[in-house]
Amino acid sequence: MKTVPDHLAIILDGNGRWAKRRGLPRLMGHRAGLRKLEEMVRLVKRQGIRYFSVYAFSTENWNRPKMEVDGLMSLFRYYIRHKVDAIKAEGGRIRFAGRRENIPADLLEMMRWAEERTAGETTIDFILCLNYGGRAEVLDAVNALLESGHRGPVTEADLRRFFYLPDVPDPDLIVRTSGELRLSNFWLWEAAYSEFYFTDIHWPDFDEAALRTALEDYAGRERRYGGLKS
Ligand code: FPP
Repeated sequence: MKTVPDHLAIILDGNGRWAKRRGLPRLMGHRAGLRKLEEMVRLVKRQGIRYFSVYAFSTENWNRPKMEVDGLMSLFRYYIRHKVDAIKAEGGRIRFAGRRENIPADLLEMMRWAEERTAGETTIDFILCLNYGGRAEVLDAVNALLESGHRGPVTEADLRRFFYLPDVPDPDLIVRTSGELRLSNFWLWEAAYSEFYFTDIHWPDFDEAALRTALEDYAGRERRYGGLKS
């Protein structure tokens, strides 16, 4: 078995608590989370991981106070405007997973630009799950499949063709920071045989040592996919 995950997925959690502990506004926590993410893309790439996805904004996150939602959208804009070339220089291909509706038009345009600009890179796919929900993804795929005129029984492969990123392999390892033991609608279908790793560390404090610990833990797992023990 490969000891390094092909696809590492992280649920970036705890920005708010990180900020609160320091007496800072929540948005400062998200800003610190963004800085951490920039560092983590490089570290993840160095580990030889081919696909790195992060849960940056869920279909449920629109329910947060308007100021926080607007602040997060501005952070995404800032990231795309200023960091895309650095990702490209690392051989990173930027991709977005999620519903495109509701995303402000200018941000949507920037997302398209970032995807196009990095489309030729092949070292690491950096996947930002933005306005992503696992149930929404399955429903969107079902509706697209119906619209395609598909007749007869539906196979897993039929449905997968209509997922947001059909070519991306399922996550091998899903990490969630900040102590919550939930999937929160992330990669719902794709997580069927993922390994999970939970840590109490808040996302802005997640560092190289924490990454290494998670990957070492993963390397010791025995994945059976429903089969027998070896
Ligand atoms: C969860 O922490 C974090 C988020 C909902 C946002 C994550 C976004 C970033 C780290 C910025 C990323 C930027 C890009 C470009 C992807 P929380 O607010 O739920 O923390 P809490 O549970 O402690 O309140």
